[in-house]
Amino acid sequence: MDELLKIKEEALDKISVCTSLKDLNDLRVFYLGKKGPMQAAMKSMKDMTKEERASFGQVSNKVKQDITKAIEDKKVALEEAEMNEKIKNEKIDITLPSTTLPLGSIHPLSMVREELEDLFIGMGYSVAEGPEVETDHYNFELMNIPAGHPARDMTDTFYINDTLLMRCHTSPVQARTMLKAQGKGPIKIICPGKTYRRDDDDATHSHQFSQCEGLVIDKNITMADLKGTLELFAKKMFGEKREIRLRPSYFPFTEPSVEVDISCHNCDGKGCPMCKYTGWIEVLGAGMVNPKVLEMCGFDPEVYQGFAFGIGLERVAMLKYGIDNIRNFYSDDLRFLNQFTRKD
Ligand code: PHE
Repeated sequence: MDELLKIKEEALDKISVCTSLKDLNDLRVFYLGKKGPMQAAMKSMKDMTKEERASFGQVSNKVKQDITKAIEDKKVALEEAEMNEKIKNEKIDITLPSTTLPLGSIHPLSMVREELEDLFIGMGYSVAEGPEVETDHYNFELMNIPAGHPARDMTDTFYINDTLLMRCHTSPVQARTMLKAQGKGPIKIICPGKTYRRDDDDATHSHQFSQCEGLVIDKNITMADLKGTLELFAKKMFGEKREIRLRPSYFPFTEPSVEVDISCHNCDGKGCPMCKYTGWIEVLGAGMVNPKVLEMCGFDPEVYQGFAFGIGLERVAMLKYGIDNIRNFYSDDLRFLNQFTRKD
């Protein structure tokens, strides 16, 4: 029994100063394993009386339990220390500067489109879409430009075959929207999108460009509604001091038709190179929807009136950001594009 208690003392001493899980495991194998000192001490049991054996058994069990418990406790302590050490070493220093990934910038045309969408959605409009490959029917016929009409010469169109073409304006979306509404107003839409014309590319012309169509159909719509709407557009896009001016014009799908000028935001209307010293900049075409168009598109012109407008997005972006060459929009020159950083 003395031998047993000696083993226990020695084991507990070694366990208490043990500093690694590996050493602890070695101690466990040594003291509790089959070839350890405990087993050796048990061998003497065969020479004992029954009573001696019983109390020896009790003590040896207790010693085994104590050693096991000491090992278990130490194991928990060592594991905890190991975990703490790990956590300490793995601590993330959130004050370190991170490796920043280069952020793309938003394209100036997308910026203008999104700004227009926000503005008109805020006034209760929804955003409509139509195909860029369009039929002659929607692009021309329903816009009151029948075959042979001189207005077909106003735009030089890319034809795919006799009936299919690349839309030369976003106005066919007017017809598509009206026909879908089946003669029932109100309609309030804008349609930003790509348009195509057989223009020779230069600083202000591009065979592919973008427009934003607007269409409102309801009862009691007058030219005053159109004017108020466009005035708001001018102020929101070019500054609160902007004014608009309507000049008589001609579009087959609107009657009356107007060209809309905005007072120059560059010189406040005093005259500068941007407005060619006139104080005014032409920005869009508009007008009251021609009753013939209303009729062809399923609306009763005796009941419904409407206005429409078509804004050139490149033109707005060029004026707003002082861009002097339309080709910049379609080049992939990062020096140009990176100037337009995200506002958010
Ligand atoms: N579709 C015309 C154009 O491309 C613009 C416009 C739209 C004019 C709507 C009046 C009304 O030139």
